Amino acid sequence: MYNVRQIAEDTYYIGVTDNRIHLFENIHPLPEGVTYNSYVILDEKTAVMDSVDWNFARQYFENIDHVLNGRELDYVVINHLEPDHASSLGEIMLRYPNATVVMSEKGANFARNFGFDVDSHNLLTVKEGDTLSLGKHTLTFLEAPMVHWPEVIVTLDLHTGVLYSADAFGTFGKLDGRLFDDEVDFEGEFLDHARRYFTNIVGKYGKPTMNLLAKAGPLLDKIKMFAPLHGPVWRTNLQYYIDKHVKWASYEPEEEGVLIVYGSMYGNTEEVAYLMANELAKRGVTKMKMYDASKTHHSYIIADAFKYSHMLVASVTYNLTLYPPVKTLLEDMHMLNLQNRKVALVENGSWSPQSGKVMTEMFGKMKNMEILNGEYTHFTSSLNEEKLVEIMNLVDVIAKSLGK
Ligand code: FEO
Repeated sequence: MYNVRQIAEDTYYIGVTDNRIHLFENIHPLPEGVTYNSYVILDEKTAVMDSVDWNFARQYFENIDHVLNGRELDYVVINHLEPDHASSLGEIMLRYPNATVVMSEKGANFARNFGFDVDSHNLLTVKEGDTLSLGKHTLTFLEAPMVHWPEVIVTLDLHTGVLYSADAFGTFGKLDGRLFDDEVDFEGEFLDHARRYFTNIVGKYGKPTMNLLAKAGPLLDKIKMFAPLHGPVWRTNLQYYIDKHVKWASYEPEEEGVLIVYGSMYGNTEEVAYLMANELAKRGVTKMKMYDASKTHHSYIIADAFKYSHMLVASVTYNLTLYPPVKTLLEDMHMLNLQNRKVALVENGSWSPQSGKVMTEMFGKMKNMEILNGEYTHFTSSLNEEKLVEIMNLVDVIAKSLGK
């Protein structure tokens, strides 16, 4: 049965909810699902904007059929070829053989590589500034390479002011029947999802995202709505969401606070992490979040690494190098381009300790990561009175750096 909703004049949401998926991109846990958003514009000509994951094709085509109500489909605009959105394109071409597929030239190449025979179909490749008239609604296209793939375009409907923003302004999380930003408690329900989505999926591409935001800036008076490919449609306070993306994309922290991560085999490093957290709280540092790197998927820790200004990483040595869960996390941080943070390091090792050296090298490869106190603090196996003094000194340095 169809499940659609009007979002603007002649414009309908036809997306679907995936509450069965465990891992987004087969990596990132999705305990609260995700939506794949798609939209239809009904004018003299009809257009579908993007599609959905193939697993949800049945619901999706029921939605399209309901909105078209017997009309032909004239255009399908594919802003982004990643299969969570574009994998139903083949079925769209089969069901609507007269529809013209609209995408960037790179998108057409990607479509061919994914096995969609766009060349024996009507194909219209578009570039920056091109327009397409549907009647009252004129679509204009902006190139948005690397937000999140190189072929990405975003599409602005100049009549309604709806910006079909592809992955930009998207978020993990299901909507439970609601659709617009003002129908959900965004800060309470979605901000953590949105941060984890952006930082892990698009975070590496901060500069391209900033380029798109700069490009969209002069059009802001024309943009009334963000219609992304995941999560709520934004129709109020667009600037709030833009500001969040500016922080994330420019690698600036949202809050002065500290992310504490530890890697611990038998609890001794964990004990030190708790001691330091306790001492930081006593000094007034209460904006903090602590994770056991072995327990929590790195995507959650990455999101808080983007959120907070400071990081304390305490890790045991393992096989003469860094404990693997912490190593994976720091590799991910490097890959995602995280930068501009203040970092405190604690090393544990029972013999031939190496974790401090490896962590120092790994943070050294990231941009503008300041190691507080100049070097890591070491203890051997478990904390003793002598090393307690050094740990307390590091706590003081972190607190002072946070103005406490
Ligand atoms: Fe939601 Fe990059 O696809």
